[in-house]
Amino acid sequence: MRLCVIGCGYVGLVTGACLAEAGHEVFCTDIDADRINKLNEGGVPIYERHLGQILQSARKARRISFTSNAGEAIRAAKAIFICVGTPPKESGEADLSAIDHCARQIAVEADSPKLVIEKSTVPARTGLELTRALRAYGRSSDAHFRVASNPEFLREGTAVDDFFHPDRIVVGVEEQSSVEELREIYTPILERRFHCPTHNGSCPAGPRGEFLVTTINSAELIKHASNSFLALKISYANVIADLCERIGADVEEVTHAMGLDPRIGGQFLKAGLGFGGFCFPKDVQAFVHLAASVGVDFDILKAAERVNKERIDRFMEKVHKALWVVKGKHVALLGLAFKANTDDVRFAPALEVLKRLLVEGASVHASDPEAIGRTKALFPDVHYHDDPYSALQKADVALVCTEWEEYKKLDWARAGKTMARKLIVDGRNLYSPASIRALGFEYDSFGRS
Ligand SMILES: NC(=O)c1ccc[n+]([C@@H]2O[C@H](COP(=O)([O-])OP(=O)(O)OC[C@H]3O[C@@H](n4cnc5c(N)ncnc54)[C@H](O)[C@@H]3O)[C@@H](O)[C@H]2O)c1
Repeated sequence: MRLCVIGCGYVGLVTGACLAEAGHEVFCTDIDADRINKLNEGGVPIYERHLGQILQSARKARRISFTSNAGEAIRAAKAIFICVGTPPKESGEADLSAIDHCARQIAVEADSPKLVIEKSTVPARTGLELTRALRAYGRSSDAHFRVASNPEFLREGTAVDDFFHPDRIVVGVEEQSSVEELREIYTPILERRFHCPTHNGSCPAGPRGEFLVTTINSAELIKHASNSFLALKISYANVIADLCERIGADVEEVTHAMGLDPRIGGQFLKAGLGFGGFCFPKDVQAFVHLAASVGVDFDILKAAERVNKERIDRFMEKVHKALWVVKGKHVALLGLAFKANTDDVRFAPALEVLKRLLVEGASVHASDPEAIGRTKALFPDVHYHDDPYSALQKADVALVCTEWEEYKKLDWARAGKTMARKLIVDGRNLYSPASIRALGFEYDSFGRS
């Protein structure tokens, strides 16, 4: 099918590239002309495992194209995926101006019937407004619009893998014809008719994702409800960590045992610096805001958000306790991205830590396998090191802020020889306290007093 993707960010590029790999013809457009130029020159503007490879194969097969001319991309396609950003406003409410912009653009440019699919994360009832805007601004009598919601559950870092092996594909629709079109779009994914880069073409047999048909309101709610629940789980683990510190228990032992109960599950029970990124913090805020707008008080979620914000305070308390005075200290900051395997630093806890260190007058030497470029644009005056060992030279302390595999495997015996003081404050509980202390380090982490 001929598809259009509006917004070539993390979600749009992965959606476009994977659907092209699955045999569709995809026309991508973005308001950011530099991004489109880079894509047309064969570049990949974000770091995401396997994305470069499938983009290259889709380009070669001439199944994907990029244009700044949104009208051209819109007219070429039968179905249009809206993948633009929905950042938070000051109030926490989702800013839907990019969605509104897309709606007006589609309405004005379309000259034939279109299925308009929300893939961006939006509050419930956005579909109704989208339908209204498309009707209000539509010009051509040949254009008829159907709206569907198809929330995206991919995770940065494993986005391509997630898109190709979904546990569920949720489609919120009003008409049966939309279900059929969406099923046609996703059948090659569900039937694994693509070259899988993770499994080199032959995915292991196992359960396939469920294709779930719901109302548009339910589909929109499913996405916010899912992300908010995961955020709750992380904050829960973090409060348990605080308790463990006071009581003298080990949070890793506690959450491991909890997670073995299938009703609880072990994922997202990791204590540490808390959640960040472009999804959880804003989605929690938007969900709280949506609930309040219809008279439902989501106290439990507000608490999860508060706990998450306080993780940075807890971490800085540990830094102060260890260093006494921060001003003038050489601080090696390991990890800038909000999680491992991405270059995304939006709402990254590490950047919050970085800001506070700079305010306090520390000399920050930061390292990250992928996120230095994006951080440099925001904090040009920090010392950046591609090599973590170089950031650690002469350091008074090492602060671990992202759970990169590279940091799990770091040779601390080697690093310790060049540090001014053998001190680690671990915001991600990456190391065994006993083994690190055996190397002569002072070591603090979360929930393992
Ligand atoms: N990043 C994730 O892991 C993830 C996962 C699931 C869902 N989501 C949701 O998907 C949406 C997109 O997220 P993202 O991380 O890809 O964002 P992003 O910021 O990486 O990408 C958004 C892109 O949209 C473009 N854009 C903005 N307004 C536009 C317009 N009017 N017309 C054309 N292009 C426009 C921007 O230039 C940018 O390239 C958000 O609603 C997000 O919550 C994100």
